[in-house]
Amino acid sequence: MSKNYTSLISELREKLKKCSSLHDIANIKSFYLGKNGIVSIEFNELKNASIDEKKELGKSLNILKNQVQELISLKLSQAQETKDVDYPIDVTLPGKNISSGSRHPISITINQITSILGKYGFTSVSGIEIEDEFHNFEALNIPDTHPARDMHDTFYVSDNKLLRTHTSSVQIRSMLSNKAPLKIMTPGKVYRCDSDPTHSPMFHQIEGLCIDKDINFCHLKGVLTNFITEFFGRDMEIRFRPSYFPFTEPSAELDIKFRGKWLEVLGCGMVHPNVLTNVKINFKNFSGFAFGLGIERLAMLKYDIVDLRMFYENDISFLSQFKGLK
Ligand code: PHE
Repeated sequence: MSKNYTSLISELREKLKKCSSLHDIANIKSFYLGKNGIVSIEFNELKNASIDEKKELGKSLNILKNQVQELISLKLSQAQETKDVDYPIDVTLPGKNISSGSRHPISITINQITSILGKYGFTSVSGIEIEDEFHNFEALNIPDTHPARDMHDTFYVSDNKLLRTHTSSVQIRSMLSNKAPLKIMTPGKVYRCDSDPTHSPMFHQIEGLCIDKDINFCHLKGVLTNFITEFFGRDMEIRFRPSYFPFTEPSAELDIKFRGKWLEVLGCGMVHPNVLTNVKINFKNFSGFAFGLGIERLAMLKYDIVDLRMFYENDISFLSQFKGLK
């Protein structure tokens, strides 16, 4: 027994012609092809057919099913292509802007400084932030009477433990464990009891140290002069002004001319023989230079930032200005 499904098919054609949304097409699909849909109901008739009839009936039912499936999927693909139906997603809308983060200006500045010094052969070393008096003061030739050792200037954790006031302590540790020759830079956080627009109780420093045979002040001047030009991307007017640090002799401060004014940028000098002796390097065989600079200070000059505290306020509009910089 074969069955003619012409009217069923033409009815489906009519319905599809009239329908106007993907949602309607989906409804038609389940009405015809769903578990209890028209096609399933027709298939149920197989149960009542005799063995002979089953063959013919099965054939026409399969043809029906295929035809229904074809018509519906054709309509579906037409609807998706031509968009002449009320498409639930407007693919022409502009996408949502997913904003990406940016590096912090302090990280950017550290990266710039270390990549320049890295080219000059300095290797980056880090140390501990809770130091003892020996590594932070004594070994650096800083006497008991020095004001930096005062409770007002330094955060003491206990009698002999303190938050390092400079990264020079890392130089002492490196010289003790690696001996000479040595060429290191030490970026990191340092702590002092200070807070105003140009001072923060925590700030970042990087120090450079070069110990080798026959190192003299010209090497120091050459490295720092080149460094300043590379860091600011142009020739800057600079001067070395005599100064004093217990751990260097002679000592100097490097100033740069900024908008007509001399600004102090970093301290430097030839490593004091006492320091070399403290770390068991013979100053008759080796000499060296050292310098130390404040990262925030350099970043403020380069990016024209007036208040150092802005670095730590996490203000997105301030931070996002550094987007794209590495
Ligand atoms: N340690 C000094 C400071 O924190 C900087 C410095 C380092 C000066 C090395 C001279 C040589 O101020």
